[in-house]
Amino acid sequence: MKVLLLLGLVAVALCEQTRFVGERVLRVKPETYEHVSIIQELSRNVKVDFWRPDRADIVTVGMTVDIHVPAPQLAMVSTILHQSDMEVEVLIGDLQVAVEAQMNNKRFTKGHDYMKYNNWETINDWAISISSANPDLISRQVIGNTYEGRPMQLLTVGKKTGSVKPAVFMDCGFHAREWITPAFCQWFVQEAVSTYGSDAEMTNLLDKMDFFVLPVFNIDGYEYTWTRDRMWRKTRSKNSGSSCVGTDPNRNFDAGWCTVGASSNPCSDTYCGSRPESEIESKNLANFIRTNKSIIKSYLTVHSYSQLLLFPYSYKYGLAADHSELLSVAQGATSALRSLYGTKYQYGPGAVTIYPAAGGSDDWAYDLGIKYAYTFELRDTGRYGFLLPESEIKPTCEETMLAVKYIASYVVKNLY
Ligand SMILES: *[C@@H]1O[C@H](CO)[C@@H](O)[C@H](O)[C@H]1NC(C)=O
Ligand SMILES: [Zn+2]
Repeated sequence: MKVLLLLGLVAVALCEQTRFVGERVLRVKPETYEHVSIIQELSRNVKVDFWRPDRADIVTVGMTVDIHVPAPQLAMVSTILHQSDMEVEVLIGDLQVAVEAQMNNKRFTKGHDYMKYNNWETINDWAISISSANPDLISRQVIGNTYEGRPMQLLTVGKKTGSVKPAVFMDCGFHAREWITPAFCQWFVQEAVSTYGSDAEMTNLLDKMDFFVLPVFNIDGYEYTWTRDRMWRKTRSKNSGSSCVGTDPNRNFDAGWCTVGASSNPCSDTYCGSRPESEIESKNLANFIRTNKSIIKSYLTVHSYSQLLLFPYSYKYGLAADHSELLSVAQGATSALRSLYGTKYQYGPGAVTIYPAAGGSDDWAYDLGIKYAYTFELRDTGRYGFLLPESEIKPTCEETMLAVKYIASYVVKNLY
C-alpha cells in the first residue's frame, strides 16, 4: 500500500514536469527591417520563448535570433517565417530529446559530481562539506535567504592570513536555466583548493586575495528548472496584481533600472520587478557587496550562452570611464580562454556588443565603484544553447578558469 502510494506520488511529480516533445529552437537571421518587424509581430501574437536575444524589441537587422517555439505554434510560426523568405535554421529539432540528452554523463555517482549537473540540494551539501574539508582555504556564510527560504551560500576562497584581503566577487546561476554556470562556480572552488600549493598563479592569487563565490544566486528558479520547467529563467516571487510569477534578476538592479531592454510587464521574461532590488536575492547580494565594497575590486557574473565577455555599460551606449583598460583586460582574458581549446569569445561593452539592457548587476557594481566588472556568457553559440551536455562541463570550466585567473591576476598585479 505504501509502495503504491509512493509510486502514485512519483507519477504525479513526473506529470507535473513540463515536457517539450515536438518543440523546436529555430535560428533566424533578419536581413531587412521587414524581417525585424515580422519577428516582433510574432512575439506579440504568439507565445514564443526568446533564447537569444532575450527579448524581441531589441532585435535588429543582421542579428542572430534563437527562438524556442512551443509545439502548438510551430506550424504557424514556420509558415510565417518561410513566407517572409527569412533564413531559418533548425537548431534543436525536438527540445525534449535535447533536454534528456544533456545528462550524457552515464557514470554512476552517488551525490555530487563536478562533471554532472547537480541539483540545489546536492550543491548545498557540497558547499557545506567542501568548506569544512578545507578550513584553511574556505569559509562559508549565508548572505540571506531566497524568496522561498533557501539559504544563499557564499564561499570565501583564499588563504586565511588573519588580515583583510582584497577580493573578487563571483556569482553563478542568475538565470535559472543556465545550468553550466553553477557548474562553473563549483568547478572554480574545487580547482582553487586542489591547485593551491602546486599551481604558482593560483597560489599567488589565494595568498593575496579572496574570492567570494556564490554558486547559485537564483536558487528558487534553479530548483524549479529541476522539478517543473527546465526552461524557467526568472526568480519565483509572486507579483501583485498578476498571476505571472518571477522577475528577471538581471534587470532588477539599480542601474538605469527598467529604462531600456527590460519590461514592466510581470509576464515578460525580462520583467524588471516592481522596483530596483525588489527581489530578495538581488537585495541580499547588493547588501553584501555594498557592505564590503572597499575590499571588492572585481565583480564577475557568469551567464550562458553566446561566448561573450561583456563589461559596462549595458544600460547606455556611453563608454565607461575605464573603457580602454576594461577592453584590454577582456582581450587578455578571452585570449587566455581561447588558448586551451580554441573557443572564440567576443568582448566589449554590453550595449554595443550585443544590445542595451538596463538593471544588470555588472553595471550596478561598476557604478558602485567596482572597476573590474564583467559578465561572462559561457558556451556555446547555440548548437545546444541552455542545454549544453554534461560532456562539455569539463572543457568549458577549464577554459573559463583561465579567463577568471587572468582577470584576478591582473587585479592583484595592479594592487601591489
Ligand atoms: C561582508 O559583509 C557581510 C554583511 O553583509 C558580513 O557578514 C561579512 O563578514 C563582510 N566581510 C567579509 C570579509 O565577508
Ligand atoms: Zn543569463
